[in-house]
Amino acid sequence: MHVLTVLDHPNPNAFSAAAAQAFMRGAQAAGHSTELADLNAEGFNPLWSLADIKNTTPPDVLAEQARIARADAICLVFPLFWWGMPAMTKGWVDRVFRWGWAYDQLDDPETSLQRARSGVLLVPAGGRSDEIKNEGYLEALETAWIKGTFGYFGLSPRKLEVLYGATGSDARRAALLEQSYKIGFTLASPNDGCA
Ligand SMILES: Cc1cc2nc3c(=O)[nH]c(=O)nc-3n(C[C@H](O)[C@H](O)[C@H](O)COP(=O)(O)O)c2cc1C
Repeated sequence: MHVLTVLDHPNPNAFSAAAAQAFMRGAQAAGHSTELADLNAEGFNPLWSLADIKNTTPPDVLAEQARIARADAICLVFPLFWWGMPAMTKGWVDRVFRWGWAYDQLDDPETSLQRARSGVLLVPAGGRSDEIKNEGYLEALETAWIKGTFGYFGLSPRKLEVLYGATGSDARRAALLEQSYKIGFTLASPNDGCA
């Protein structure tokens, strides 16, 4: 498969960047080709604006759509910010998943205009797993992203992989990078099992 990894972090030495690299190494070890979209390094403009409302798709959005078009699997790597996506990732989704290209009917999640691709959200988080799970945050994120955004987009199968305690000890981080590698290595094929 061809795997697109979309990374959102301004620091190339951040844990998130290391998690993206570990994921890609795992995918490569499983025989997949990989492509990295490093949104901050590339200077992607995440601000949805008047140009995005017009009929003509802006060139920078077309370039991102072309990346998606050649991918069989997509992995988004971004740190959990205020129980949501950082602005760069949010803006990438807002602008790239355009009406008429990604979807056309707002009330039916089965009407994605895109072919099925498998999808992973690899999300480093400062919080502990018990905190995030017991307080209902994980369920909220699953609803918004797995059922909502990426279900709409037609990623299948798709899953949210939260890397809990990502600001923890070196040993903790090493274990999370190993986990990221395994997630890349065991990446599902499109439509392989249930979402
Ligand atoms: C603006 C901001 C908001 C954050 N919000 C959350 C949050 O809602 N939940 C959480 O568990 N961690 C939160 N964190 C912690 C980050 O998720 C954590 O620092 C990050 O995953 C570590 O990865 P990095 O070293 O690649 O940045 C937040 C951090 C920042 C800077």
